[in-house]
Amino acid sequence: MSASALHRYWHENGAGPSARGKAPFALVTGSTGGMGEEWALQLAALGFNVIIQGRNKGKLETVRSQIHKLAPDADVRLLVTEATVYPNPALTEGLAKLLDEPDVRLTVVISNLGVNELSYPKLDEQSSESVAGIVLANAFYPAEVARICLPHLKRHEPSLLVTVTSIGCWAPPPYLSPYCGTKGFDVSFSRSLHNEMICEKRQVDIVCMVPGQVSSNMCLEPVSRMVPTSADWVKAGIASLRSTWWTPRPGAVVVPWGPHAWGMFFIAWAPAFMVNAIARSKVVTMRDEYLAANAKDK
Ligand SMILES: NC(=O)c1ccc[n+]([C@@H]2O[C@H](COP(=O)([O-])OP(=O)(O)OC[C@H]3O[C@@H](n4cnc5c(N)ncnc54)[C@H](OP(=O)(O)O)[C@@H]3O)[C@@H](O)[C@H]2O)c1
Repeated sequence: MSASALHRYWHENGAGPSARGKAPFALVTGSTGGMGEEWALQLAALGFNVIIQGRNKGKLETVRSQIHKLAPDADVRLLVTEATVYPNPALTEGLAKLLDEPDVRLTVVISNLGVNELSYPKLDEQSSESVAGIVLANAFYPAEVARICLPHLKRHEPSLLVTVTSIGCWAPPPYLSPYCGTKGFDVSFSRSLHNEMICEKRQVDIVCMVPGQVSSNMCLEPVSRMVPTSADWVKAGIASLRSTWWTPRPGAVVVPWGPHAWGMFFIAWAPAFMVNAIARSKVVTMRDEYLAANAKDK
């Protein structure tokens, strides 16, 4: 394995003789596109075996072959689950079964999956099913992934659970209320669990990672300093997990991409009316463009 901020989680600790001597596993949710696909590719290139999750088996098979081009020896296992349903036996039973395999030693979880309504609808024009889907996928799903993975992460510590939130929950724009609300859940959930691991004297590092806009299927903005490619953002995400001289544990909330970190600094110190006005104007413009493009298509 090449030198990386992830060396803390690439070790041979763990129960079971069959687990010894074999590379640890990383689980990546939402790995059939955007940042999730990049997490899977970059973790495999760094020497991890990977469990990739998606709702479409064909897309997962394509990601598996891309991983094998980069890392021919990687053990790649698939978890096919839809995220917007409850109850969700494909997740609860499917994931538990994968993690119980004697040769799976889980040390990294990247809870990346996120769902958004791309048409910027008014809240009272959204269906109950659509709101439920966003809450289930962005809040309940990462909480369930954490609950199911935690015993395994404790058994194979030091280990890592990253949950991906959004800068939008610090400067919530209009027409995205269920999405921003659930991303706020991810922040408080992670911070509480981070503190729980410290109280329990566990070496399970809990990190909430904050992207601003990143080029992907969810964000079609042109690439720029403020809108990195998914590959560049994930590279920065991995580097941000590096330990510091005062602690081996990464922080509870990290903003890996420099220009996004400046944005967070501005949000923290600028007057709220200014932050809200900027959040409104940016998304109103994006919504107008979306509505105009869709009207043209009809
Ligand atoms: N991109 C941004 O600007 C941005 C900004 C802030 C935060 N984020 C957060 O970053 C994370 C990654 O976002 P991204 O931009 O990389 O997203 P993306 O390109 O849209 O990819 C989302 C992934 O989630 C999967 N997915 C979507 N709906 C699903 C469902 N109902 N059930 C199961 N899987 C589902 C997708 O599968 P399919 O391929 O089958 O659709 C895909 O693998 C998300 O948590 C997002 O909220 C993104």
